[in-house]
Amino acid sequence: MSSTSLRKFYLSLRSALSKMTRRSHSPELSPRPLKKQKLGHLTSEDYKNGVFLAPMVRSGALPTRLFALKHGATMVWGPEIVDKAMLHAKREVDPVTGVISYNGVSRAIFTTHPLEKPYLIYQIGSADPDLAVQAAKVVMHDVSGIDLNCGCPKPFSTHAGMGAALLTNPDVLCSILVALRKAMPPEISVSAKIRLLPSQEDTLKLVERICGTGISALTVHCRTRNMRDRDRAMIERLREIVNFVEGLGKGIAVVENGDCLGWEDAKRVRGATGAHSVMIARAAEANPTCFSDTPLVDLDKTLVPSYLRLSKYFDHNWGLTKFCIAQFKGERVTVKKSEATNLRQMLSKAKGFDAVKEFVGDWTGEDEMKEIIEAIEKNPPRLRRMYISADSTATVNDTLSKSVTANGNGVVASVIPSVASSKEDEAYATPQNTQNPEPPSSGAPFLPKEFQSIDPLPPKADPVTPTPTVSA
Ligand SMILES: Cc1cc2nc3c(=O)[nH]c(=O)nc-3n(C[C@H](O)[C@H](O)[C@H](O)COP(=O)(O)O)c2cc1C
Repeated sequence: MSSTSLRKFYLSLRSALSKMTRRSHSPELSPRPLKKQKLGHLTSEDYKNGVFLAPMVRSGALPTRLFALKHGATMVWGPEIVDKAMLHAKREVDPVTGVISYNGVSRAIFTTHPLEKPYLIYQIGSADPDLAVQAAKVVMHDVSGIDLNCGCPKPFSTHAGMGAALLTNPDVLCSILVALRKAMPPEISVSAKIRLLPSQEDTLKLVERICGTGISALTVHCRTRNMRDRDRAMIERLREIVNFVEGLGKGIAVVENGDCLGWEDAKRVRGATGAHSVMIARAAEANPTCFSDTPLVDLDKTLVPSYLRLSKYFDHNWGLTKFCIAQFKGERVTVKKSEATNLRQMLSKAKGFDAVKEFVGDWTGEDEMKEIIEAIEKNPPRLRRMYISADSTATVNDTLSKSVTANGNGVVASVIPSVASSKEDEAYATPQNTQNPEPPSSGAPFLPKEFQSIDPLPPKADPVTPTPTVSA
C-alpha cells in the first residue's frame, strides 16, 4: 500500500471518528459504518520484513492490539475464534467510539476497531471448509486477512479436529485453506499458522502442500505439538523451511514464531532463521510495547493507566481488562517493588473501572485513543519494516547466547523461561518425549464427500521485494 493511500485512509478515519465522538451514546442511533476505505490489500510482500503480534486467546484483546500498533507492531493477529462461534454473532457498532462488537448470546465474541483494520488478521479455528468460509464471511469486511490456526495443541481444539490436529490431516487442512482462498475476495489475504512436525522431512512435505493452496504467508511456531512453551523453540529448523518455500517461487512469506523478545531480538531471530518476519506472543503479552526499539519501562506508571483509560472508553470487559494487565511484566526503573505489589493487589480486588478511579486520575480515554490514532498516522504500521542485511546470517549458537545476555536485566527474559534458561548443548536436540504419539488421522475429520479441490488463485504479480540492505 502506498503512503498516499494510507494518508487518505487516516484522513477519512479521522473525520469519521470525530463525527462519532460528537454524537452521544444513544441506543436509538443506527450505527453509521465508516465510509468504505480504498486501501491497497495485503499481498505476501506485506507479510515480509515485519514484526507481528501473535494470536493470543484473551491476551490479544483489542486494547492490547492497539497499543502494540502504537508501539511498532507491523500487523496484529486477533485471538483464535472457533468458526461456529461467529455464525450467529450480531455485529454492533458503538456510535461514539467506533468499536465493532460481534456479540453472541451473552458476551462479545470478538471486538475490533476500524483503526486496526489495515493491520488486522483474524484467526479461525476450524476443521471444516464450509464452516470456515461461513465464519470468514461474517467478519471479512472488518479485517484484512484470515489465518487458519493449525497449531493449538489444547484438547478443546484437537478433539474436534481443529488446531494441531490439522497437522496430521493435511487433506482437511489444505481443503480449508483452498476453500477460504476461493471464497474470499482478493483483498482478503489467507494465511496459516502451523507447528513443526517431529521430523523435518514430514514438515517439509506438509509445508509443500500448504504452499499449494494460494496462501500469502505461513507462520511456523518452531515447536512440535507436544512441546510446551517452556521448551526452547527449535528455530534452527526454520532456515531449511524458508529456503524450501522460497524455492517454490510463489513469493509466500515465512514468519518465525517462538521465543522472540521484541524488536531488537527480532533481528537476531531473522538473522538465525532467514525468516521474512517474526511473530511475538508471550513477550508482547508481558509488554505490548516490545515492538518498539525503545519499549516502555515502568509499565505500572506508563502503560497500565493508559490501558485502563482506553478500556473504559471502549467499555471493554472489565474481567478481560484486568486479566491482560495482570500479565504485564515490564522492566522497573523508578517504580519500587512495593508500589508494584500494591497496584496488583488493588487491581485484583477491584470489581470495576470505578474502583481504580483514584489510580487512573481523569478518564481521558478519548484522548488516549487520539494519541494512538496520531501515533499510527505518523508512523503507519504497514510501512514500519525491518530490513536486515543479507550478511546478518548469525548462527543459532551465536544468537542463542546473545538472546540470553541481551536481556541482562532478566526482566524480559524471565517472561520466556525457555530462552532464559537454555543451555547450548541442549539447543539442537528435540526434547525427549515430544514426538507426536498420535496416528496421522486421529482427531481430525475426513473431508466432506462433496468437497472439490480447486486450484489456488493464480499468483499475483507481487511488488518487487525491497532489497535487504538497510539495517533497521
Ligand atoms: C495466552 C496465550 C494465548 C494463545 N492463543 C493462541 C491463539 O489463539 N492462536 C494461536 O495460533 N496461538 C495461540 N497462542 C500461541 C502463540 O501465538 C505462540 O504461537 C506461542 O506462544 C509461541 O510464541 P512465543 O514464544 O512468542 O510466546 C497463545 C499463546 C499464549 C501465551
